[in-house]
Amino acid sequence: MIPLARPTLPKFSSIEKKLKGIFKSGMLTDSKYVGEFEQRCADFLGVENVAAVSSGTAALTLILKCLKLKGEVILPSFTFTSGVNALFWCGLTPVFADINPKTFNIDPASIQKKITKKTAAILATHVFGNPCEIEKIEKIAKKNNLKVIYDAAHAFGSTYKGKSVFCFGDASIVSFTPTKVITTAEGGLAVVKDKNFSRILKLGRNNGDSFNRAEEFLGITARMNEFSAILGIEGLKIFNINLKRRLRIINLYKKELAQVNGVSLQKLEHDSFSVYKDFTILVDEKKFGMSRDDLLQKLLKDKIQTKTYFYPPLHQKITCSKLRKSLLPETENISSRIMSLPLYSHMPEKYVQQVCTLIKKSYVKK
Ligand SMILES: Cc1ncc(COP(=O)(O)O)c(C=O)c1O
Repeated sequence: MIPLARPTLPKFSSIEKKLKGIFKSGMLTDSKYVGEFEQRCADFLGVENVAAVSSGTAALTLILKCLKLKGEVILPSFTFTSGVNALFWCGLTPVFADINPKTFNIDPASIQKKITKKTAAILATHVFGNPCEIEKIEKIAKKNNLKVIYDAAHAFGSTYKGKSVFCFGDASIVSFTPTKVITTAEGGLAVVKDKNFSRILKLGRNNGDSFNRAEEFLGITARMNEFSAILGIEGLKIFNINLKRRLRIINLYKKELAQVNGVSLQKLEHDSFSVYKDFTILVDEKKFGMSRDDLLQKLLKDKIQTKTYFYPPLHQKITCSKLRKSLLPETENISSRIMSLPLYSHMPEKYVQQVCTLIKKSYVKK
C-alpha cells in the first residue's frame, strides 16, 4: 500500500537522551521542554507570543474563549470540522462563506456579503498550507471592526508576501498531528498578537489557573506534554530538510499531472508560499472520463490510498443542520471533485511515478 501520509520523524537517537532525562526527573508535562519548544517555534515563525497546547482544536477553542467573542463568526465550509466545533463549544454561531475555486481558500467577496450586525470575527483557513488572501481579509475586518483568526493548522512554515503567515491577524492556530509537515504526535500551538492575551491563554490551558482562588475565567486542561515537546524540538531541527524533500515531490507531481486532461491543481496567490500539507487534484468527470469517486476506488484497488479532504463540506454535516442555510456553489463544486494524493516528506519519489502513471492510465479518451 502507498499510504496517504506518514509522519517524518527525527531519528530516535536524537530524542533518546531527553526522554531518559524526563523519565528520571518525572517531569512529564508543562515543564522545560514545552517552554523550549515554544521559544523555538516563536523564533522559527518570527513571532513573539505563542502557547503550546494539546491540540489545534484546543488552541482554537481557547483563543475564541479568551477573545470573549459573542455572536457570529464567518468561516469557510471547506475546512476541517474542528472550526465549527470550537465555535459551538464557545456558544458562537458559524456563518459560512464560499471559497475561491482556484485556491480553495475563503473568498473575501463572499465574506463581505455575510457580514451582519452580529458578526464578531472571521476565522479563515490556509487550506492545505496555501495562505489565504490576507490583505483583503484584514481590510474587511478593519472596516467592520472584526477580529481575525487564522486556522493555520496546515500552514506551519507557509509565508505571505515574504512574511510568516503567523505575523497576521489577532491569532492563529497550528495542529501538530502526525499528518502535518511537523508533528508532536498530538499537539497544537496558539500564536497571538497581544502579549497579555498570550498570558491569559497560558492560564486558559491550565484551567484558568486552578491553583488560584481568583480564577480569571473558565479554562480547560489543554497543556502540551513534555514527550510531545521533545518530538517538536527535534522535528523543528529537521523541518527545512524535510520541506525541501516535500517540495521536490510536489514539483514532480506537478510535472507529471500538468498535461492530464480533466485534472487540475490548487493555485497559489502571487507572493504566497505553501508548505503543502496535502497535494490535491480536482477531477473534472466530463473531461477526464471518470468521476473522482471512481478514480479513488481504482487507485485503492491498486493499493494507493487517497482522501477526499474536505468532503462533505461542513454545511452538509448533521451538526450544522440547524444553521441558517447558505448557498455555497464553489464549495460544493470543489468538495465533490477533490482528492488528496499520497504525500509525506520522506516518500520515495518512485511512488509519485506510480500514482501518476495510474491516473494517466485511468483517463478515458473520447
Ligand atoms: C484545517 C484544520 N484545522 C484544525 C484542525 C484541528 O487540529 P487538531 O486535530 O490538532 O485538533 C485540523 C486537523 O487536522 C485541520 O485540518
